[in-house]
Amino acid sequence: MRKKFVAGNWKMFTDRAGAKKLAEAVVAGLAGDNRVEVALCPPFTNLETVAAVLRGTPVALGAQNCHFENEGAFTGEISPLMLLDLGCSHVILGHSERRHKMGEGDALINKKVHAALAAGLKVILCLGETLEDRQGNQTGLVLKKQLEGSLAGLDEAKLERMVLAYEPVWAIGTGHNATPQQAQEAHAFLRGWIAQTHGKPAADALRIQYGGSVKADNAESLLKQPDVDGGLIGGASLKADQFLPIVRAGI
Ligand code: PGA
Repeated sequence: MRKKFVAGNWKMFTDRAGAKKLAEAVVAGLAGDNRVEVALCPPFTNLETVAAVLRGTPVALGAQNCHFENEGAFTGEISPLMLLDLGCSHVILGHSERRHKMGEGDALINKKVHAALAAGLKVILCLGETLEDRQGNQTGLVLKKQLEGSLAGLDEAKLERMVLAYEPVWAIGTGHNATPQQAQEAHAFLRGWIAQTHGKPAADALRIQYGGSVKADNAESLLKQPDVDGGLIGGASLKADQFLPIVRAGI
């Protein structure tokens, strides 16, 4: 049985005071309940603030990106070791906003995945098709290409510290979530690919989150699909009273 995993991706929102309040409200609302795994992923500048709130609680701390080297002359970048030093256990990589707005491709994402895992972080790897891909019946091809590229060179042991997040680009921040059937179909496709490349035990153990306009009122129908193991939540993770019901939908 895979434990459900719900992560809040705060994107480029919150200042330190707001981040502290939001993290405190999430921790208080969960009241130590760890039936669903929860991670909060604030912007880099608020990691230390949120780390102090989460210390000693079951809620994990994640970052939203990292570089593929642990140190060096890379102005403006943050390394996996720096994230660990701040108390992060997780990092989101390959988010569609980085793929499409910052020009990140699978080869770069793959280097980051290797570096993050080698440093000891767990990775939430995002993938998903655009509206154009879907309308052109290219969803399977696009997902396969992203899997092949981003997961290149990763064995079953490494996969154990990874989570996939299926995030159809057309559903992110648009208010148009995938239907539970569309999500289930894509998740089953991803798990099937992993079964073929890394074996059935690895595929059965792998958690696949759904992301894209998950809200309190659609979370339950999405999370009860057999291959949907949680959610990566953007907009609705910025308010504790919207995020907490999504976590509870996973119980
Ligand atoms: P959304 O974002 O929930 O605001 O659609 C999800 C994400 O980008 O991870």
